[in-house]
Amino acid sequence: MDARAHWERMYTEKAADAVSWYRPHLERSLALIEAAAPERSAEILDVGGGQATLVDDLLGRGYERVTVLDISQAALEATGKRLGAAAERVTWLVADIRTVELAEGAYDVWHDRAVFHFLTEPRDREAYVRQVERALRRGGHVMVSTFGPEGPLKCSGLDVVRYDAERLHAEFGAEFELVESSTELHETPFGTVQQFLYCHCRMR
Ligand SMILES: C[S@@+](CC[C@H](N)C(=O)[O-])C[C@H]1O[C@@H](n2cnc3c(N)ncnc32)[C@H](O)[C@@H]1O
Repeated sequence: MDARAHWERMYTEKAADAVSWYRPHLERSLALIEAAAPERSAEILDVGGGQATLVDDLLGRGYERVTVLDISQAALEATGKRLGAAAERVTWLVADIRTVELAEGAYDVWHDRAVFHFLTEPRDREAYVRQVERALRRGGHVMVSTFGPEGPLKCSGLDVVRYDAERLHAEFGAEFELVESSTELHETPFGTVQQFLYCHCRMR
């Protein structure tokens, strides 16, 4: 099954709060974004935003330029429905991050929670990093979170790659400066615990 079909099925079969990655709020992501880009006019791209409430919280804090991209149309439709009228203030992109054409230098912040770690093929990771280099403005921020070194080997039935900060930063290369990293013990809706790594890099 290809990636799009996998995620469409996932989001049509499971409730938003019944998936392992569900959190009521992405507190760590929000704190990183607010610290790095306090100006509310910042262009923020949430890659693989799915049904996360990050977009609600960003709008609630006054951010005006938020784009949510996901390979699953069902996920973005559900998120838009949850937001109601506020959905009109968001740019929605149903696309595969490996191949989508993003405007050059368009974003101040690139956020990804639990997407990059699904890229098990080196060519997909290279395509992803090329997308960041193209779409982020110089000096822009990349916040990527993956499973950490002690995290699970699979998510949603798919293999993942686990990272520590050094290894994740190495994927991005010398064009990016590692600003900070931290781990988080995420409690799933089923009461299990997963180690996540959060990395904040800045494009030179
Ligand atoms: C584990 S979920 C995380 C969702 C959200 N970031 C969160 O933290 O709640 C992974 C998300 O990435 C999306 N996704 C997977 N592969 C993708 C790709 N190649 N391009 C864009 N989105 C993708 C999925 O549809 C899904 O919404």
